[in-house]
Amino acid sequence: MAEPKADTPTGQTLTSDQWIKLQGDLPRLDCELTLCHILEVNRASILARPERSLSANQLVEINRWADALRNDVPFAYLAGEQEFWGLNLAVSPHVLVPRPETELLVESALALLQNGAGILDLGTGSGAIALAIASERDDAKVTATDISTDALLVAKQNAETLGIEVTFQESRWLESLTGRWQIIVSNPPYIDPADPHLAHLHAEPQHALIADEKGLADLRQIITEAPNYLANGGWLLLEHGFDQAQQVRLLLEQSGFQAVTSHRDLANIERVSLGQYLYE
Ligand SMILES: C[S@@+](CC[C@H](N)C(=O)[O-])C[C@H]1O[C@@H](n2cnc3c(N)ncnc32)[C@H](O)[C@@H]1O
Repeated sequence: MAEPKADTPTGQTLTSDQWIKLQGDLPRLDCELTLCHILEVNRASILARPERSLSANQLVEINRWADALRNDVPFAYLAGEQEFWGLNLAVSPHVLVPRPETELLVESALALLQNGAGILDLGTGSGAIALAIASERDDAKVTATDISTDALLVAKQNAETLGIEVTFQESRWLESLTGRWQIIVSNPPYIDPADPHLAHLHAEPQHALIADEKGLADLRQIITEAPNYLANGGWLLLEHGFDQAQQVRLLLEQSGFQAVTSHRDLANIERVSLGQYLYE
């Protein structure tokens, strides 16, 4: 049986182009990508056939996505996936949606990683950083941790689907770990609880975003604990907020790190700070 056609209140059916034009408050790209997912076609097909009629069932689903997007639900949660470092990662509301700027942390870590060395990703979420590094370097021994059991399930599933080897362990930062690594990386929560942008991030796990002390509490804890888990000459690399580089560099220096510096992202913002730990 043919599916019923999409109706407007006046009884007209809608084409995909008409539907996009009715979503004036949503970015056109989000509308096109929503159509791609629900109609199971690529974007070229959406652009090539603006006159395609939407069935009533399709319209219900498309409008549900549009409402969710208006309510700041990330597109990645609706689609159930997000690309990071060229890897297609499954994501759910248990994990932060990996951000493109975090690729700078991966790049910075890869540049320092010695052959066959161990690297630890603290607060792995979807597994984005650990999986990106392991996908580039199969000689590296990659360990990834998180405090969230649900996040670790997502990360483990991603590793399995992608066929990438990473060791996962549940831990509150470094608490449950034993050993020493050549590199420790982390993209910890670093948003000030008073930051007004949080209002638009309500769909993502708040414990993945917010940290006390104006966003510095988790960064401080990791910096303080990391020397006991780094091999001699090992590096700690941290992603942080756009205005936290100076404070993070100071924290690294106060904990005895050397060669402390920050790297800028594509928007020219100091986004990753790092330091090397040498035993006395
Ligand atoms: C900003 S998210 C980063 C997720 C992922 N690494 C990424 O870059 O997309 C921070 C992660 O740290 C985890 N986390 C928060 N507090 C933690 C703690 N005390 N110990 C370990 N992990 C923690 C969260 O569950 C979350 O997965």
